[in-house]
Amino acid sequence: MISVKDVVAGYSREVDILRGITLSVKQPEIVTILGPNGCGKSTLLKTVAGFLMPREGKVALDDADIGQVPVFRKVRKHDIGFVPQTDNVFGALSVWENLALGGQFMRDHDRKERLDQLYGVYPVLKRKCKARASSLSGGERQLLSLARALMPRPRFLLLDEPSAGLSPKMLSEVFDAIVVLRDTEQVGVLMVEQNAAEALCISDRAYVLSMGKVALEGKASELLASDDMRRLYLGGRTH
Ligand SMILES: Nc1ncnc2c1ncn2[C@@H]1O[C@H](COP(=O)(O)OP(=O)(O)OP(=O)(O)O)[C@@H](O)[C@H]1O
Ligand SMILES: [Mg+2]
Repeated sequence: MISVKDVVAGYSREVDILRGITLSVKQPEIVTILGPNGCGKSTLLKTVAGFLMPREGKVALDDADIGQVPVFRKVRKHDIGFVPQTDNVFGALSVWENLALGGQFMRDHDRKERLDQLYGVYPVLKRKCKARASSLSGGERQLLSLARALMPRPRFLLLDEPSAGLSPKMLSEVFDAIVVLRDTEQVGVLMVEQNAAEALCISDRAYVLSMGKVALEGKASELLASDDMRRLYLGGRTH
C-alpha cells in the first residue's frame, strides 16, 4: 500500500502547494484525484513519485518511508511507475525504443519477454513498433506511455491525466486499459483526471483536492451519487 500522511510540499520554501494531504492506494485498486486547475494534483503525484520531497509528513510504501527515495530507485525496484502529464514519450524515438527505455533496468531476457507480453496486450504498439512516437495519435501515445511505465512490472502506477486531449472513444480505450491493469496485473493505480464522471466510473475510490487539501473523499460510486460532488465537479450531470 502507498500511504501519504499529512504531507506538506512545494517548489520553494516560502510556498506550500500541498498543505497536509492524507491518502492511500492499495493493490489492486484505482484511486482518482480530482480538483480544479492548480490545486496541487500533479504536485501530489510528483511527491509520491519522488521528484519532490515532502517538507512535512510521510510517504510510505507498505511500512517503509519512501519520502526521500528518488524516483529512479523506485522505478528500478519495480515499485512505482509514473506517467507525467506532459512529455511522457520520446517523440524522436521509435515505439520500440521508448518501450526498451522503460525496461532499461531489466535483464535482457526479462525485457524481451515483457515487451512481447505488452505487445500482446496493446497490438497497436506492435503494429507501429518501428514508427516514431511523434507520429502516433494522442490515444496511441497515451497507450505507449502507459506501456512504457509498465515495462518493469511496477506494483503501483501514477498517471497524470491519462485521458487529456482524447476523443470519447479513445478515452474509453485508455480507461479500459487501466481497468485491465488493475484486474489482470493487480496494479494499484493513482490517477489524476479532469474527466471526473468517466474517471469515477472506473475507480474504486476518489479524493477531491481543493487548494492543497483533501476536500472530499470516498467510494467512487458514492461520490458519483453525491449532490455536493455533482454540483461542484460534475456540472450538475445526472447519470
Ligand atoms: N515546477 C514548478 N515550480 C514552481 N511552481 C510550480 C511548479 N509546478 C507547479 N507549480 C505550482 O504549483 C501549483 C499547483 O500546480 P499543479 O501542477 O500541482 O496543479 P494541478 O492540480 O495539477 O493543475 P492542472 O489541473 O492544471 O494540471 C500551481 O500554483 C503551480 O503554479
Ligand atoms: Mg496537473
